[in-house]
Amino acid sequence: MDRFIIEHSRDLSGTITVSGAKNAILPIMAASLLAPGKSVLNNVPNLIDLRTMAHLLRVIGARVEYDDGYMSIDSKDVCYPEAPYELVSKMRASIYVLGPLLARLGKARVSFPGGCAIGTRPVDMHLQALEALGANIEIENGYIAATAKQLHGADIYFKKSSVGATINTLMAAVFAKGTTHLHNAAMEPEVDTTIDFLCKMGAKISGKSTTSITIEGIKDLFPVQMDMIPDRIEAGTFMIAGALSHNPITVCNCRPDHLLPLIDKLRESGCEVDVQETSITVIPAKKIKPTNIITLPHPGFPTDLQAQFTVLMCLADGVSFVEDTIFPDRFMHVAELNRLQADIQVNRNVARINGVPNLGGAEVMATDLRASAALVLAGMVAEGTTTVSRIYHIDRGYDRIEEKLNKIGAKIRREKV
Ligand code: EPZ
Repeated sequence: MDRFIIEHSRDLSGTITVSGAKNAILPIMAASLLAPGKSVLNNVPNLIDLRTMAHLLRVIGARVEYDDGYMSIDSKDVCYPEAPYELVSKMRASIYVLGPLLARLGKARVSFPGGCAIGTRPVDMHLQALEALGANIEIENGYIAATAKQLHGADIYFKKSSVGATINTLMAAVFAKGTTHLHNAAMEPEVDTTIDFLCKMGAKISGKSTTSITIEGIKDLFPVQMDMIPDRIEAGTFMIAGALSHNPITVCNCRPDHLLPLIDKLRESGCEVDVQETSITVIPAKKIKPTNIITLPHPGFPTDLQAQFTVLMCLADGVSFVEDTIFPDRFMHVAELNRLQADIQVNRNVARINGVPNLGGAEVMATDLRASAALVLAGMVAEGTTTVSRIYHIDRGYDRIEEKLNKIGAKIRREKV
């Protein structure tokens, strides 16, 4: 198990490049099961979660090649419709194979995902939507067993905006007989790019980037090649690193239109943010102003940047409030940040952050992916040395984060324990 040893390093400067978006690639990998033949994805980073998904697709019968920014998925021989517990328990996004397997093979058996460090995370809306499309769903021995001879179009209203339920339903509905309407659908960029991928494969979907999506069922899809969008959460993490630094940094290969809520909040906190077509330069504030955030579905402030923004507010000149409405229990990082001499109290789903002049290095433990990113940022600004253990969490979603940050002036060493 690796850990990071991080020395105080607030003099970042230069340019840092963003990789492809994990949370877009995961559903697109699952979507490629819908089209027999070889689909090719470019701009694919080296991440544990993508390797886990590749493993799952191989178990299902696909041939997956994954190397150096490229992935090919040949789903001609997909025949085994099961996502076993060992893989789903490692990565909840395995649930994304449910919709495509049901649509392509008429059956799927996927281990029921449990809770995780950021909350209980039910999948009830995935299952209700598939039932509305005509699937028969049974829960047996910890598995979701779904069957359908022929799915049919339906009018589906999601009680909450859900990225996963929207994408799973989209993927199931492409072969449904008739028309499916999704209401209160999620509008995250990861949903949009999955729609782009499905449409490129031949699907008939309208309403992208809105909460009302219509899918006209068709009979076949064909394999395609597509470049993956840049990771807005990785980009946002680097932008916050810039805001914590003493010098400007430029985040390259990003989509500024996916980052508007963060750009707005960084400006409110006193940073200057210079936005170009595919890059963003963050010029840090002399004094960080306290700034409140509330996480919301896109285009609101993303929950996946909540922990990282909290680190910035730890050093603000006053009191800030951070409220998470998406995952109300996503505050495991707070106790660790307080070990680094932050001053944060959590009441229900709101963190009250009293800004302090400095953080101090200590040993801390990563609990989930974004919490680990927050601890890395905090370790960089803390006086002295910070040790972050259990960094396998960060390797799930950031491709060699320490190498990227070290290139712009961070002092982070990976150590095997
Ligand atoms: C996706 O999770 C992301 N994961 C998460 O990123 C991200 O935090 C989340 O969307 C919100 O943006 C992937 O893309 C793999 P949801 P997902 O369904 O799809 C509730 C990261 O760090 N809900 O949009 O699972 C749910 O509990 C990860 O990269 C139900 O109640 O999230 C939450 O309150 C962590 N029933 C809200 O909806 C359901 O059936 C939104 O969750 C489904 C969800």
